[in-house]
Amino acid sequence: MAGLILALETSCDDTCAAVLDGPRVLANTISSQAAAHAQFGGVVPEVASRHHLELATPVVEAALSEAGATLDDVGSVAVTAGPGLIGALLVGVSTAKAIAAPRRLPLIPVDHLQGHVAANFLDPEPLEPPFLCLLASGGHTLLAAVRGHAGHEVLGQTLDDAAGEAFDKVARLLSLGYPGGPALEKLAREGDPAAFEMPVAMSRDPGLDFSFSGLKTALVYLCRDLGPDGVSERRADLAASFQAAAVGQLVAKLERALKGGGWQAVALGGGVAANGPLRGAVREACERNGAALKLVGLELCTDNAAMIGSAARFAEPIPYPGYLAYDAFATPKRAA
Ligand code: KG4
Ligand code: ZN
Repeated sequence: MAGLILALETSCDDTCAAVLDGPRVLANTISSQAAAHAQFGGVVPEVASRHHLELATPVVEAALSEAGATLDDVGSVAVTAGPGLIGALLVGVSTAKAIAAPRRLPLIPVDHLQGHVAANFLDPEPLEPPFLCLLASGGHTLLAAVRGHAGHEVLGQTLDDAAGEAFDKVARLLSLGYPGGPALEKLAREGDPAAFEMPVAMSRDPGLDFSFSGLKTALVYLCRDLGPDGVSERRADLAASFQAAAVGQLVAKLERALKGGGWQAVALGGGVAANGPLRGAVREACERNGAALKLVGLELCTDNAAMIGSAARFAEPIPYPGYLAYDAFATPKRAA
């Protein structure tokens, strides 16, 4: 089994490790810290770093054990180098170095966003480029042109909040707890998506960028005008109206990109890709435009280390000792 990839992902609040044999995932272990952050209504960077410190070694051990492997079987160590919370990333990068260096294994730093794209390259039925990829999570919202395995081009991205961040903030307004996306989707099933008129962001903008802060602010004002009793009476309608507007914007931009680029295939990634109405609307947009749709399992949509291992297969390994001073990066690295 020599030559396995051991991958780590600690860019936000999930401590993740995976073991891959080429495109085959042997283990994909995730320890979610959501409960630790719920009391704060969002991810607290300092709390996340401390939890990663405690969880990194047990999660790596659990992944190796599930894969039926030991460190002797590992040929390279992949790790998310950024973007993300810098303190959280540093724990992953240091752990990866500490595993790789004593064994003189190469280290493969991976861009987190390319990781989401590369989730589509895994078995079974890997998706071959070219394809258009919509990534929407708590930290990012972007449309990526994927023309090869080693990178992607950002065609458009959010100019303010990420889509998942907007779901989480509106969920908080509606007292739904954290993370709010799944709870908001559930509540919205009982509501009328046309109950409240929502601002349609960026509709006149010819580009492919997104904006979610206006939508969030509209909800803040609506809740203020309705008052606490009105809000609790109309919670489901508020959730449904917000969700319809957020999904509408994501799909409108995706469809604009589809039409403009003549893409034959579309993939979805990020935690918001778990949203049922979004999946349904994207499927319809693909059918309208004659494009195939690839939906990976939810465990590969949300943050995970299997996607990092997948991206690592097409990234540049750094041989020992070249990576000892390698640093994590908080904000996206873009080619000049
Ligand atoms: O990719 P992810 O696990 O972590 C990062 O943010 O990178 O995405 C988490 C985000 C959260 O904002 C969460 O509320 C959102 O994805 N989310 C959803 C749903 N499930 C998770 N948003 C809408 N509907 C869902 N069903
Ligand atoms: Zn992510």
